[in-house]
Amino acid sequence: MTGRLTGKVAVITGGASGIGKASALMFLAEGASVVVGDLNASNRELLTGEAQTLGYGERFRATSANVAMEDDVAAMIELAVTSFGRLDVMFNNAGIGGAFGAVTETTVDDWDETFAVLVRGVFLGVKYAVRAMQTHGDGGSIVNTASVAGVTGGGGPVAYSAAKAAVINLTKTLSLELACQRIRVNAIAPGAIQTPLLQQGRRVPVAEVASTFQPWPEGGRPEDIAATALFLASDESRFITGETITVDGGLMAGGPHAALIAKNAPSGWVGMNRGTTGQAPTVHKR
Ligand code: NAI
Repeated sequence: MTGRLTGKVAVITGGASGIGKASALMFLAEGASVVVGDLNASNRELLTGEAQTLGYGERFRATSANVAMEDDVAAMIELAVTSFGRLDVMFNNAGIGGAFGAVTETTVDDWDETFAVLVRGVFLGVKYAVRAMQTHGDGGSIVNTASVAGVTGGGGPVAYSAAKAAVINLTKTLSLELACQRIRVNAIAPGAIQTPLLQQGRRVPVAEVASTFQPWPEGGRPEDIAATALFLASDESRFITGETITVDGGLMAGGPHAALIAKNAPSGWVGMNRGTTGQAPTVHKR
């Protein structure tokens, strides 16, 4: 049987739980070879067992990878290439709730850790995935997990919301740089999805809470996001890039929307703009 991802190789970060796990199982069912990178060892083992039971063992690998660490991300991509020969799909999905509480009490360390996982993690995933995709030259699909919290204010803690907004813009801007290589970059902005992350510490099921403010009667499931990731990963979405698809049971339908036009043509100049800090920028031609 031919699946929608037959012959494709995918890496999924945060793939041992929630949205990432549902995506890993869906991608495998659709014929992909999948590498999951995740920090949680026991959930990695559980998923490896499930994949074997379902007969996907040959097409599945799970590895310990911290998406905030460059060497880990490079090794995770390398594992996909050495195990399965190539990389076609990168799903940058790993996430944490990050810093929370009053902004006046938020420490710099907590703020930085939030951004390291949610934003640096996506940047590194893109950096190494694109290098691998460039070696075969057939293009590829990058999918980033953002959030409705990144689309409007009030959907999450300050650092988390700002980081997810960054992911949405990163998606648009990168899509411009990579379109000429037929590498698509899209994001998904989930609403309230019943996963261990959202359920953490809450006594009432999230789905029940969501039904009080969400237009759609049923709560969001990890599979709802996985199905969108599958569409974005597959060739069915071949002309879609730079897009963030909101999957939220109508939550944002009545909310504010901000349209940002990102312009960024690759010039060959690379470096670091340190703004008005007084520290010199680093600029060099590639
Ligand atoms: P989850 O907690 O079920 O799964 C997240 C996975 O990411 C875990 O397995 C965790 O070990 C892994 N992870 C966390 N930090 C990592 C790191 N530094 N390196 C590698 N792996 C790491 O959570 P869920 O809900 O499935 O979240 C997936 C993504 O969806 C996250 O980016 C989250 O922010 C986003 N999201 C979730 C929503 C929800 O309602 N559940 C709503 C909007 C966005």
